[in-house]
Amino acid sequence: MILQGKKGIIFGALDHQSIAWKVAERCVQHGAQIVLTNAPVALRMGAIKELAEQCNAPLIPADATSIEDLEALFRQSMEHFGSKVDFVLHSIGMSVNVRKNRPYTDLNYEWMQKTFDVSAISFHKTMQTIWKLDAINEWGSILALSYIAAQRVFPDYSEMAEAKALLESFARSFGYHLGVAKKVRVNTISQSPTITTAGQGIKGFQEFFDYADKMSPLGNAPAEACADYCVVLFSDLTRYVTLQNLYHDGGFSSMGMSPAILS
Ligand SMILES: NC(=O)c1ccc[n+]([C@@H]2O[C@H](COP(=O)([O-])OP(=O)(O)OC[C@H]3O[C@@H](n4cnc5c(N)ncnc54)[C@H](O)[C@@H]3O)[C@@H](O)[C@H]2O)c1
Repeated sequence: MILQGKKGIIFGALDHQSIAWKVAERCVQHGAQIVLTNAPVALRMGAIKELAEQCNAPLIPADATSIEDLEALFRQSMEHFGSKVDFVLHSIGMSVNVRKNRPYTDLNYEWMQKTFDVSAISFHKTMQTIWKLDAINEWGSILALSYIAAQRVFPDYSEMAEAKALLESFARSFGYHLGVAKKVRVNTISQSPTITTAGQGIKGFQEFFDYADKMSPLGNAPAEACADYCVVLFSDLTRYVTLQNLYHDGGFSSMGMSPAILS
């Protein structure tokens, strides 16, 4: 029960496979109270209502690209909790060019703007809203989910590579300000390929999933294990970890070659 008494907001649970879904379940199992949020269109799809009931959590719609929605979300959450929050999970990603199968050498730049806004700038917007509303307690913890394509080339990940690089940079830059002013830490977790709606949108995902699984000494990290890691990072056991991009990938990021791939 390492989150006993903590209050948090979890973005991005869409269905049972979502990483955020598992994080929500684990946070509640560890004693936290949570608010769930997602884009209005995702809420209409329905599955998240089941999670809200299970977690005894209010469900507050918010398009994470809208400052107005984010302000309403944080105000309503603080009203619900009767206090500021202690932790926030940003688990949001979407690429329009990937969705529409545009090759990396022929990207549509309006779509790219949308991709960056949804997948990365929304993280800055969330932290700026927290900052302006003074919505997080001292020693609070903010996390976003990233992927190693921010550092290395994974051609089919397309413009999401740049979106993740931007996301990780926002974590460091805003993490500095939140650290100095409020002792709040900000980190990104760079997660293994995981079978989810967003993951499966990437071309050749299954082959790539199998490759990463073989390449990683521990195999791909499942969503449930990622949820455990999030719980630890939200807890008081990691108070001095900040401005980091933390690999949660079964060792993939340190590998050069694995005989498992050759056999
Ligand atoms: N699945 C993987 O292989 C993998 C690997 C590393 C990192 N990640 C990251 O994990 C995070 C969660 O993705 P997932 O794999 O659980 O997939 P998912 O499809 O379950 O979650 C993505 C979520 O983003 C939400 N979203 C999209 N647009 C939004 C908006 N405008 N406002 C608010 N929410 C919006 C969707 O409704 C959905 O709930 C993403 O940042 C993703 O890039 C995924």
